[in-house]
Amino acid sequence: MSLPIFVNTLTLPQNILDLLKDQCTLHLWQGEDSDAALLNTVAGFLVYGHPKIDAAIMDRIPNLRVISNFGVGVDHINVVDARARGIAVGNTPNLLNGAVADMAFALMLAAARNVVFGDRFARGPEFTHYDPSINLGLDVQGTTLGIVGLGKIGQAIARRGKAFDMPILYHNRTRNPQAEAELGATYATLPELLQKADYVVLITPLTPETYHIIGREQLRMMKPSAILVNIARGGVVDHDALLQALQEKWIHAAAIDVTEPEPLPRNHPLLQLDNLVITPHLGSAALQTRQKMAERTVNNLLAGMRGEALLSQVV
Ligand code: DGY
Repeated sequence: MSLPIFVNTLTLPQNILDLLKDQCTLHLWQGEDSDAALLNTVAGFLVYGHPKIDAAIMDRIPNLRVISNFGVGVDHINVVDARARGIAVGNTPNLLNGAVADMAFALMLAAARNVVFGDRFARGPEFTHYDPSINLGLDVQGTTLGIVGLGKIGQAIARRGKAFDMPILYHNRTRNPQAEAELGATYATLPELLQKADYVVLITPLTPETYHIIGREQLRMMKPSAILVNIARGGVVDHDALLQALQEKWIHAAAIDVTEPEPLPRNHPLLQLDNLVITPHLGSAALQTRQKMAERTVNNLLAGMRGEALLSQVV
C-alpha cells in the first residue's frame, strides 16, 4: 500500500524518490492551498532543504506522526511544538560527520592557501611565468586549531587537526573529558580560544544561545592573522560584524559554507571581498554521504508513520 506523505518540494533527488517508490505517494505541501481531502490522511512529512516547519503546519495535519528531516540540523523545525503534539522528528546524525569535517578542512585550506584566488589567477592572463613571491598563503600544519562546538562533527575536525600536527583548543557548553583525553584537545573559554587560535572553526548547532555568538567583540579578540571558518549555520555569525572585520582586516580571512540569510542577496558586500571564501552549504554534499542520509531519512519517515521509534529521533 502506498501511503500519502507531504514533501516541501517535489524536486527531490532520484535516490530519495527511488527509496520512496511503491511505499509513499508524494504530495507537495502548499500551506493553505494544500489538498483539504488529504490533510486527515497524511501521517508523514519529509523535509528537504531548510523550510520552516512550525506549529501552524503541524496543526493543519491532524494525524501527523512524523517529520523526517534530511540533515542533522533541525533549527528550521519547531521541535518543541512537535514534542507537545506527540509528533516524532527524525534527522540524520553521525552519517555526515566525516564529510562535514572534510569540508571544514577544505575551507580552511582554501582560505589559508589561496586556492580560490590561485585557481582564478592560473586561468587568467596575468599568469605568464612562475613567480615564487606571489599568492603567498599561511601555514596550516602546526598552527593552533580552535573548535567551537565539540560534538561528533567537532571531534572529527579535531582528529583531522591532529593529523595536521595542530594543537587543539575547544569551546563547548559542557567540557568533554573523554574527548580531551582521546583527542588531546584543551578546553578554553570562548575569549581564550578566539585570542589563541590561528583557525577558528564554528560547528555548533544554531540555538537561541549560539545566535550571533561571533560578533564584533569576538572578532576583535581574534589574531589579525587568524581565519574564521563557519560550517555550522549562518546565524551563528553576525554578518555585519564579519563584513567590517574582513574589510578592516581585523582578521586575515573567513571561509563560510553557510550564511544568514541563505543565500545572501546577490549584491551583498561580503560577496565582493577577496578575503572571503564562500560555498553554497556543501557541508555534507558528498555522494556517498548523501546516499546514507537519504536512506536514514526514508527509514525514519516509514518507522514514524508505523508509530515505531525512529533510528535517529530528535524528539
Ligand atoms: C545538516 O545536516 O544539517 C546540513 O546542514 C544539511 O542540511
